[in-house]
Amino acid sequence: MNPLKHVAIIMDGNGRWGLKYKNSRNAGHKAGLKVVEKIIKETIKKEIKYLTLYAFSTENWKRPKNEVNYLFKLLENFLINKIEDLNNQKIKLKIIGYKKFSKKLNKLLNYSEKKTSKNSKLQINLALNYGSKSELIGAFKKIRVKKFKISEENIDRNLQTKNIPDPDLLIRTGNTKRLSNFLLWQLAYSEIFFEKKLWPAFNEKDYNRIIKEYRKIKRNFGKI
Ligand code: FPP
Repeated sequence: MNPLKHVAIIMDGNGRWGLKYKNSRNAGHKAGLKVVEKIIKETIKKEIKYLTLYAFSTENWKRPKNEVNYLFKLLENFLINKIEDLNNQKIKLKIIGYKKFSKKLNKLLNYSEKKTSKNSKLQINLALNYGSKSELIGAFKKIRVKKFKISEENIDRNLQTKNIPDPDLLIRTGNTKRLSNFLLWQLAYSEIFFEKKLWPAFNEKDYNRIIKEYRKIKRNFGKI
């Protein structure tokens, strides 16, 4: 049975779900956040150590202002209301992506990371203003400044995901088969599951079904 240390998720389909059932894309994001909470609980239950969630990409800034503002307000309220609880559950929160938000949100993100930094039950990597290509460019620039050689280890060490093992499993909901500039380097050998359901409709049962399938896969890492 495959060990499972790290699950990464592209939570796609909020907008479509919101429009279909509530006549508003933002309502889909609100419902999506409820699913995030359920999946965090289930991840702890399964004793998985890392959960990486793609919450906002570098490309998502191109969305209407109203939607972008709504997403960040949702995140802000979530942290204000839940960081105590996450900390009590021994969850460590780490932001990947460049923190270029409002002063208030940057402060809140830094506070949340610092408060939970010693926890080790589950590490949640929240990808915010994250783009894999810009992450890789950043890593190469750091390597050049340090005059280090270009090697797999040096690239790993200079990514925003340094010290985090590569994802074993990537799940993308929303019936779309693409990676959308997410962890392009780190997903080199991950098992990828594309799920038809939209993120707000995804539940613990779906998550467990995918984990069960994943466990059965013979992972070769290029060998036979
Ligand atoms: C993609 O669906 C989803 C996002 C860009 C945002 C993800 C946010 C959440 C799940 C809720 C907030 C989470 C936190 C942690 C505060 P989409 O909008 O691209 O859906 P579509 O493909 O149907 O348009």
